Amino acid sequence: MNRPANDTFLRALLRQPTEYAPVWLMRQAGRYLPEYCETRKRVGSFPDLCKSPSLACEVALQPLARYRLDAAILFSDILTVPDAMGLGLYFSEKGPCFERPLREERAIRDLAVPDPHGPLRYVMDAVTETRRALAGSVPLIGFAGSPFTLACYMVEGEPGSEFARLKTMIYDRPDLVHRILSTNAEAVTEYLNAQIESGVHAVMLFDSWGGCLSEAAYREFSLAYMRRILGGLIRERDGQRIPSIVFTKGGGLWLEEIAACGCDALGLDWTIGIGAARRRVGERVALQGNLDPSVLLASPDAIIRETRAVLDDFGAPGTGHVFNLGHGVSRFTPPEHVAVLVDTVHDYSRRLREK
Ligand code: CP3
Repeated sequence: MNRPANDTFLRALLRQPTEYAPVWLMRQAGRYLPEYCETRKRVGSFPDLCKSPSLACEVALQPLARYRLDAAILFSDILTVPDAMGLGLYFSEKGPCFERPLREERAIRDLAVPDPHGPLRYVMDAVTETRRALAGSVPLIGFAGSPFTLACYMVEGEPGSEFARLKTMIYDRPDLVHRILSTNAEAVTEYLNAQIESGVHAVMLFDSWGGCLSEAAYREFSLAYMRRILGGLIRERDGQRIPSIVFTKGGGLWLEEIAACGCDALGLDWTIGIGAARRRVGERVALQGNLDPSVLLASPDAIIRETRAVLDDFGAPGTGHVFNLGHGVSRFTPPEHVAVLVDTVHDYSRRLREK
């Protein structure tokens, strides 16, 4: 596996020196881009877009054609895994839903790990195709949902419930929740390893809802299973380390524990200062984040000011920082605002290093 020509992102994840802070954005391929909406309209539905490797490749590359981004992310969704488990993913006006949510003990006992080369073959094909299209320019990030975040969607089956069913089950039937989570952990380990074998350069675990748990429940129902996955991942391919990033939205209180789970980098949302986070865990892991995505809705002047503030807060000498938002790009973001952000990160972080 050859190193991409621009490997700044990979070096920053491993806390090696870089000339500037690399930047990519969660949801960089998405509905704020008119060309994404165009492709998506052609296909019809979002799941069909994910299931077409050539179109998934096309939309993954769209933001790279516009901006000087330092990484591409596989175009897919975290919910491909429960879909492949037979739950029947579809999208309503409100968001993702499952036709057969996990409500009965019997269904939970029957839950099985999907073959990543069987019903998830299309994801591996999208990895191969995107990696080929990138032609060694920048790294490709693979990803999956955390076992707990997947369980939130699998048990609720529809948006808007604040996870009441799953959280009730945690307290009434923890054995059933552990059964779901261990199946998810095994499924995600195999899924990410298949992505690595298909060519991704780094992997990220999205724990979007871990922050809704109590500290003790987070440790037992989310972190423990992410640690299990990280312990089972392929760590090196063709002599190159495959760095891993763990992002628990709302996990700012637990950074030390998350940093010790076996990942190379921590994703930070915007509720914690990146300088403070660095002082707490920066000797152990790289940090990725943490601009409030709402900043991109504001004026270019505000974007420049707030972007510089994150870089200043991280501080010198600046190794181990991957610039990102604290969550995904909002669909209401003007595309030209993203260019202001990306250019500011490159130019200002380069200047800070030259000081
Ligand atoms: O550019 C990228 O970041 C790569 C693709 C990507 C998508 N989803 C595409 C997508 C990634 C990495 C994800 C991860 C994902 N999916 C998460 C974790 C990150 C987070 O946002 O917390 C979660 C929770 C999901 C589940 C999901 N998928 C939701 C809740 C929704 C609906 C809400 C929304 O933002 O639309 C989706 C749909 C989705 N996933 C879209 C895209 C581009 C929009 C689909 C469309 O209507 O075209």
